[in-house]
Amino acid sequence: KKKLLIDVDTGVDDAQSIMLALASPDVEVLGITCCHGNTKLENVLKNTLRVLKVCGRLWRIPVFRGCAKPLLAKKINAVDYHGADGLGEVPDPDAPGLELLQKKKAVKAMIKIAKENSGEVTLVATAPLTNLAVAVELEPSFPKHLKALYIMGGNTESRGNTTVCGEFNFVADPEAAHIVLDRFTCPIYIACWEFCCLRSLPWSFVDEWFSIDTKKAKFLKEISALSMKKARSPEYEKEITAGKGFNPCDLFAMAAAVDDTFITESEEVAVTVELTGAHTRGMMVLDYMEHLGKTDKAVIIKNVDSEKLKNMLMDALK
Ligand code: BDR
Repeated sequence: KKKLLIDVDTGVDDAQSIMLALASPDVEVLGITCCHGNTKLENVLKNTLRVLKVCGRLWRIPVFRGCAKPLLAKKINAVDYHGADGLGEVPDPDAPGLELLQKKKAVKAMIKIAKENSGEVTLVATAPLTNLAVAVELEPSFPKHLKALYIMGGNTESRGNTTVCGEFNFVADPEAAHIVLDRFTCPIYIACWEFCCLRSLPWSFVDEWFSIDTKKAKFLKEISALSMKKARSPEYEKEITAGKGFNPCDLFAMAAAVDDTFITESEEVAVTVELTGAHTRGMMVLDYMEHLGKTDKAVIIKNVDSEKLKNMLMDALK
């Protein structure tokens, strides 16, 4: 089985991607590390436990508390889109309590899990990259123990969803994204914002997906309602997704990590992150002409097998 370690800021699309991973027969989830991001860390921890409860995996997947704030940047969140609690504002009165968290902290746990399974762990990061950056600072050999890193974040065409040119996960901690893209020597696959927008799921599929009659589908429909309403509103007209469907960003990174045949087209480019620009701080920079002299290149996802994703998503809710 493929061994996965998942770093999240559970939000709606993080929840969807955790559910996809847990439903994949060829995947073993070794742990979930939580980070600030879509909402404050306390909510991220609660949301992650709620997802595990719905999937019947509460006692089996260890969840770890990670960084509550970015390295240097001012803390931001995406509660406008994901809801005040980060999960669509549909509280569960019987939600599991935080006493179920592991005692070990996320960064140390990541390093330990990677070392104990050296060369076998695929890390999927769908949050700001703070936990990963602290891990490599603490243990510079950390990336060498990973098989691969899959990231949802950054952009290829300076089309920002959070600032003029910046995508949320990178803008939420630009220094961390910079450290990770510079110091992680394992293969890195990136699902960037513009790509995710172009591959949005048609609303007709979303309706079919949520009409499955299971507890998991009911949960997902409830927690997704608020963000889907947003995504359908005129406010989002300027997005490149407008009218095309629901953009489940984190799912693209997760599906690529779970299934090696999911990516159908990609390009390898050296990448870094702008740290100082007035409008461009947090923007991913692609070094096509190799000015930076970086030897390691990232794999930028250009196209995927959308039918495969739809099948995975249907299976995830059954
Ligand atoms: C990213 O930001 C978050 O709001 C989503 O969960 C996704 O990880 C998209 O920019």
